[in-house]
Amino acid sequence: MSFTFAQYQESADFLRSQIGSFTPKVAMILGSGLGYLGNEVEQPIRVPYGEIPHFKASTAPGHKGRLVFGELDGQNVAVMQGRFHYYEGYSLDEVTFAIRVLRLLGADTLIVTNAAGCVNQSWNAGDLMVIDDHIKIALDSPLCGSNLPQFGPRFPDSSYNYTPALRQMAAEAAAEQNIPLRHGVYMYWTGPQYESPAEVRAARILGADAVGMSTAPEVIVARHCGMQVLGFSLMTNMAAGILDQPLSEEEVLISAEAGKEHFSALIRSCLQRM
Ligand code: HPA
Repeated sequence: MSFTFAQYQESADFLRSQIGSFTPKVAMILGSGLGYLGNEVEQPIRVPYGEIPHFKASTAPGHKGRLVFGELDGQNVAVMQGRFHYYEGYSLDEVTFAIRVLRLLGADTLIVTNAAGCVNQSWNAGDLMVIDDHIKIALDSPLCGSNLPQFGPRFPDSSYNYTPALRQMAAEAAAEQNIPLRHGVYMYWTGPQYESPAEVRAARILGADAVGMSTAPEVIVARHCGMQVLGFSLMTNMAAGILDQPLSEEEVLISAEAGKEHFSALIRSCLQRM
């Protein structure tokens, strides 16, 4: 099912009634382990997803399910505490719904983070990567169906999905903070099963450094409506088949927890520079 422009507007109108004259500039979608950054927002206005017209509840572990509006490191932000994944049973329209709503509220930049499996064999679990580009060949595009020209063109360009100036800024922020930062390509898989070793080899041959189950759909929709995008992956594990051991959700959540200090310091430093 595709949403109509009026439905996006209805959600935006409701949120406007909650946030008054506050205008978010940076929309933030925080992946596994990082949602707590939403608790650091100053003068927060919290809106549970369940109260927002057309929003769904989020079922993934470690994901809360509310929007937090307020100030973080000098920026007006809207933090999604909890995101939607296709593997939860949502359509790509539902997965990406909030992006367009936040765009209607004034957000012009998206910061998106995720936990990912590390495909690049010269890197390690625990590494942070700024996403230079993505590969999404799984599933339809979230832009399939009638185009909504109020948001963007029928055939949007994908040459600069991850804004070059923001990637450069992230590199400078990381260097200043002595946080090692990789640059690489993220490949989207639907999940919920982790990739097979053969799929991980295929991803590597195609040019991926990391694999994960989120981010690319949201970024496609954000770019369509003209937002700038900054994306990060935390390598929570070596992708399947690299080490002779099975992958587990527990390993992913433990690594996400272990990496969150560096990760949040980097993101906050980026916010300060924007
Ligand atoms: N694959 C896909 N998604 C993930 C992984 C992985 O290895 N680790 C964390 N999220």
